[in-house]
Amino acid sequence: MKLHDHYGDVVRVGLNTVSFATTGALSAVHNAGGSAGGDKESFTKKGTIEWLLGAMSWSATNILTAVNPKAHEKLRKAVQPAFTIRELRKQEAIQQNWITTYHARLDLDGREDAEINITEHMSQLVWDMLGDLSFGNPLPKSQLVKFNRLKKIACAMSPVLEVMQNVLAIPLVGSCTKAFVTSFPGMFQIPRDILPVGTLRDYVTLERTDRSHDFLSAIVGTERKGIHLTQDELQSNAAMLVMVGQDATVTCLSSTLYFLLRDPNQMARLRDELSETFPTESEITGEAISRLPFLNGTIHEAMRLISPANGTGTHRQSQGGWVEGLWIPAGVTVAVDQYTIQRSPKYWKHPEEYRPERCDDHAAYRPFLLGSRACLGRELGLQVARLVLARLAFRYEMRMTNKDSFVWEKRDCDSSYLWLGHKVMVRLTEAAATTEAT
Ligand code: HEM
Repeated sequence: MKLHDHYGDVVRVGLNTVSFATTGALSAVHNAGGSAGGDKESFTKKGTIEWLLGAMSWSATNILTAVNPKAHEKLRKAVQPAFTIRELRKQEAIQQNWITTYHARLDLDGREDAEINITEHMSQLVWDMLGDLSFGNPLPKSQLVKFNRLKKIACAMSPVLEVMQNVLAIPLVGSCTKAFVTSFPGMFQIPRDILPVGTLRDYVTLERTDRSHDFLSAIVGTERKGIHLTQDELQSNAAMLVMVGQDATVTCLSSTLYFLLRDPNQMARLRDELSETFPTESEITGEAISRLPFLNGTIHEAMRLISPANGTGTHRQSQGGWVEGLWIPAGVTVAVDQYTIQRSPKYWKHPEEYRPERCDDHAAYRPFLLGSRACLGRELGLQVARLVLARLAFRYEMRMTNKDSFVWEKRDCDSSYLWLGHKVMVRLTEAAATTEAT
């Protein structure tokens, strides 16, 4: 952001990398061939850090890492049915049950005014929920620890990977580097044992009928439509969904609580909206909260200020294309800096202020990106964030205890690849309204 403030909307930020901070660049790079015109294959993931990490980490290509447009389309078609609004409603019982389970834990952990790491709490809740939705069983906690370690390594390695990204752009050297790096899979390999033994086999061979609304049953169901995924592709896609969904959703929830708890007036407004709409917690459903203006505003405004997936993971490599009137030659890495765009005074009034009443329908607000690679889990992520936040705020009065020692922006958190180090600590009490109503 500092570089854009100083040098303008287009900055060469590395040997072979150019960064843009305009809404025009968002469309030209991420929606090439769409409303912005141009060739839809002008900017792809081939040669990016995401591509390199994908090749190093996964046993088979998945929707996130696929670079070939046809392979990507096939995978996206196979998984998409699990993400329609209709499916989402059917998956809601699984989501609500996990929230109830975790409230019981909060009741215990928060006794006698104990301090709680609410970010950690939400991380475990979302992990169990997405594991259950993805595989039909919650995943072992040890895998969450492995995932967090992997994330830290990937973030720490980000500068090295950026150098590699430049090397990869040199034709012959690039192929040799990729072959070398991917021949040491142990370095980053996503654990293959992430799936409880036998679960995947049960899905495929026994056609499980006990769970019909999770991701895997939807994916396996596409077999009937002639879309076949190998065992490795199934495994890779299901594990990727948990990991991608986990990090972005937890960052979204953690930042929303961070902003709400720093300003008790905003939290009070949210609690008023919830208590005026719902006599009891059990009436809080996905459908009922999908259009609550203030609740939705708190989430969108937090994602405007802290975009969960911003940074090197969203870079593209040019195959030769135009951005904002500039020709970007093939092999150049292109970044479109959402953080700067979503805080630019060019697009926003009082951009640094947290104002949940702002409208989210804005060309300079794209936390899920856009185009054919836009987030597949957008509706799910939003529904989980709304449900977790609404039930938490309805049930508990919370006070942030690390307001002074933790300042998210420009101090205690890093986001070169993904956001690292956010931690919201609270003390909570059960709200009077819920104790009376239940
Ligand atoms: C608030 C929560 C979320 C945010 C802000 C978010 C954001 C994003 C962004 C920006 C991308 C594009 C990355 C790129 O192409 O460079 C993306 C891709 C993706 N997201 Fe999300 N995400 C969220 C939740 C989820 C959830 C819950 C899931 C599924 C469980 C999910 C699944 C995916 C998948 C599969 C892709 C790859 C799409 C493709 O390449 O076709 N996301 N997400």
